[in-house]
Amino acid sequence: MEQQLTAFIYPFILFVVLGVLAPLLLANVADKARPDEDELKAPAEKSLYDQLGGAAAIDAAVNIFYRRVLSDAYIKVFFEGTDMTRQAAKQKAFLTMVFGGPNNYTGMDMREGHKHLVEKMGLNDSHFEHVLAHLRSTLAELGVGEAKVAEIIAIADSVRDDVLNR
Ligand code: HEM
Repeated sequence: MEQQLTAFIYPFILFVVLGVLAPLLLANVADKARPDEDELKAPAEKSLYDQLGGAAAIDAAVNIFYRRVLSDAYIKVFFEGTDMTRQAAKQKAFLTMVFGGPNNYTGMDMREGHKHLVEKMGLNDSHFEHVLAHLRSTLAELGVGEAKVAEIIAIADSVRDDVLNR
């Protein structure tokens, strides 16, 4: 009788372990190894605007940027007749839009907005380079990583021909 019981119990235990527990454990391990949907989506779908830190980050960047621009003797002359409070607000809205944030920009397009500066004041590549350099150092000051800085500078550089009206 006892022998019959042992002969039944061991195969039964083997059946439970291999047939039920092992598949459950393996399924759990496989599930953990697979990245969840948010992890898969995040890098591709998060806008540059969000990656930088949203409105607060753009605000800080534009404020520091114009402080640098206005203390640069080579280019500050362009801003002498400009209301800098309004200009900073326009620049914040513009950058928010091009970085993939909410689109509330109602200012002029880049060609229209800088035409008079090209025609009357000779705005050219050398001035544009100064602006890019200030943007770069502003982002570095805020601790933005090199790869992200390069991405942002490429976006800024993509409007060069419009700004310089050519
Ligand atoms: C990445 C390049 C640039 C971007 C994204 C940019 C963006 C803008 C924006 C959004 C405006 C507002 C347009 C409006 O009035 O509706 C503006 C105006 C202006 N920009 Fe730029 N800009 C760039 C390059 C430059 C450069 C290189 C200079 C000169 C060194 C410059 C000088 C000005 C000035 C003086 C105004 C105001 C014009 C006025 O008061 O009539 N910008 N810019």
